[in-house]
Amino acid sequence: MVKAKKYVVSNTFQGPPKRDDFKIVEYDLPPLKDGEILLKTEWLSVDPYLRAYNSFLQPPYDQFGFQVGVVQETKDPKFPVGTRVVTHKGWCDHVIVKDVIEKTSEPPIEWIYKLPDLQGLSASLALGAVGMPGATAYLAFLEICKPKSGETVAVSGAAGAVGSLVGQIAKIKGCKVIGFAGTDEKVKWLKELGFDEAFNYKTVNIQTALKEVAPNGVDCYFDNVGGEISSSVMYNMSKGGRVCVVGSISSYNDDPTQLPKVTIVQPGILFKQLKVEGFIIWEHKDRWQEAFAVLVKWIKNGHLKAPEHVTTGFGNIYDAFIGMLNGENFGKAVVKV
Ligand SMILES: NC(=O)c1ccc[n+]([C@@H]2O[C@H](COP(=O)([O-])OP(=O)(O)OC[C@H]3O[C@@H](n4cnc5c(N)ncnc54)[C@H](OP(=O)(O)O)[C@@H]3O)[C@@H](O)[C@H]2O)c1
Repeated sequence: MVKAKKYVVSNTFQGPPKRDDFKIVEYDLPPLKDGEILLKTEWLSVDPYLRAYNSFLQPPYDQFGFQVGVVQETKDPKFPVGTRVVTHKGWCDHVIVKDVIEKTSEPPIEWIYKLPDLQGLSASLALGAVGMPGATAYLAFLEICKPKSGETVAVSGAAGAVGSLVGQIAKIKGCKVIGFAGTDEKVKWLKELGFDEAFNYKTVNIQTALKEVAPNGVDCYFDNVGGEISSSVMYNMSKGGRVCVVGSISSYNDDPTQLPKVTIVQPGILFKQLKVEGFIIWEHKDRWQEAFAVLVKWIKNGHLKAPEHVTTGFGNIYDAFIGMLNGENFGKAVVKV
């Protein structure tokens, strides 16, 4: 009999998630049925959407999220013992899963796929640069921003999992890249990653900064955070600029029944004839593997760095999660179980 542990979300979060919004539950796993596999978790992910979707779900629920597990026992010949797989089973140390085809498109989704061919890279990358955040950076940026060589790209949340990749992909595509992040250390780090310009959004006047480094306007804005930063960038776009809205983390801890208040953006959109488009990665599952193949190639040939912020220990997942929401991570926040 295998003893398993999992985090259960027991409350609707009020503001930032609190430690006692989660309960760690221990339970006995039943024997495997035909078609099932038993996974031991090796790596798991903490992401902003785990905060955001709490507002739409009814607790209690098991904390979902991407994780990499290794098959310990199997009753599915497609997944022999020792196979590494990615599932959306979240914050648990052992779990029984089946190879299912998910019908719904919103978290919590049931999903399982074999670890992509990482060509010797750490399996943890399947949660970041070669996982959901990598697919988001690659597909959303290229499909919506449609960057051209020589154009100017601005990225908010630039030092995080998605943003740090978008900035580097923009450099691969020959663009000038401007990043916004929340500390001076992150600004320095972004320049080391290859960003042409970087600013601490907490201390800089974004309008003034952009007028200086992008005098002809920003052609592509990759928006991870929403709010006032984004309003400021959208008033400094070039004619026909493209805005890809991927995240709105500045509002995730707010009361979802109240509309957040920021500077009106419509004049900026109207007079520069901007294209503004939202993107949800769950709608593009059929293209993840295509993105992964390119991302692995770029990492292996040295064009793309895939930095990670690793926390160790099953008992420290909450700290990793709240740390990521508070901006402690440089690159992708992951937990080694
Ligand atoms: N649409 C999709 O399909 C999709 C897929 C993946 C991710 N996303 C979204 O993309 C965004 C980035 O996700 P990620 O996984 O790459 O997370 P991340 O950037 O690695 O981590 C979150 C970062 O957000 C920043 N942040 C926190 N509060 C903020 C605020 N009030 N204003 C500005 N920045 C704030 C922090 O960095 P600082 O120190 O810089 O503040 C923190 O490090 C999130 O909004 C997420 O929901 C969307």
